[in-house]
Amino acid sequence: MLTLEAVSYRYAGARRAALRDVDLELRDGEVLGIVGASEAGKTTLALVASGLAPRAIGGTLRGVVRIDGRDVAAAPMHEMAAQVAIGFQNPATQLSGVTETVFEEVAFGPMNLAVPRNEVIGRTWDALASLRIEPLAERHPARLSGGQQQLVAIAGLLALRPRHLVLDEPTAQLDPAGTDLVAEALSHLSARGASICVTEQKTDLLAGLATRVAVIDAGAIAFSGPADEVLADPRLADLGVAAPSAVRLYRVADAAGLSPVARDRLTAALAEELDVR
Ligand SMILES: Nc1ncnc2c1ncn2[C@@H]1O[C@H](COP(=O)(O)OP(=O)(O)OP(=O)(O)O)[C@@H](O)[C@H]1O
Ligand SMILES: [Mg+2]
Repeated sequence: MLTLEAVSYRYAGARRAALRDVDLELRDGEVLGIVGASEAGKTTLALVASGLAPRAIGGTLRGVVRIDGRDVAAAPMHEMAAQVAIGFQNPATQLSGVTETVFEEVAFGPMNLAVPRNEVIGRTWDALASLRIEPLAERHPARLSGGQQQLVAIAGLLALRPRHLVLDEPTAQLDPAGTDLVAEALSHLSARGASICVTEQKTDLLAGLATRVAVIDAGAIAFSGPADEVLADPRLADLGVAAPSAVRLYRVADAAGLSPVARDRLTAALAEELDVR
């Protein structure tokens, strides 16, 4: 479990805090979604939860970050990194830049954690298979499309078998098929007990994946709760977040004056047809 207690964070030289008084609990085996408008503080939250802020990027943190109840303020970055893996929106920043093949790239993380060689190989094939990118194994990571790089970066994180995983807009570069693969891989990881925090603008991804969702606005948590409730909350739009397609569909059917039975049939049929969650 990863918890933030009354956490505020200010970037070095910034006039105001980018996170204000954030309380958040990321429980074992759950997927917590973080949504919010542009500049709301999603990336900052990911940096603080993973320990990169302030350790690697400076700035000032107030409040307490705990892993399994332990205050990690004094823990150095390498110790945080062993507990919490982080994935960024732009896969180019995530790839090591020192490997010649996708296979080596995905194996790079667990190799550095001194995982035994046979296990590294097993984990690497597993991670590639879970995102259906085994055919890319021999390719050069730098010569892939943005979407392929994003899947490779996520495979590298899966191969770490992290207990806590923080992902900042992991599907930004992916098409719907790639997005579905990531959702499936993440739900497998959480089913094995990992706790996953995903920031996303794509609420469709979270609708099928997240257990709970927190809405961040101007650096503070505006509200949070069970994913179904938060994603259908009319306040989302005011905070710059588009509701999932299924919720929008339901509202359109309602506004068009369909009876509740017809509306439910239509939304169910369309969900089936369009694969809308
Ligand atoms: N390195 C930095 N130095 C100073 N201020 C920063 C820095 N990075 C971000 N900020 C500010 O912190 C606030 C939160 O930014 P953040 O990047 O966390 O938002 P976000 O929700 O991830 O936005 P987006 O949807 O555009 O990715 C913004 O006001 C932003 O201008
Ligand atoms: Mg961001």
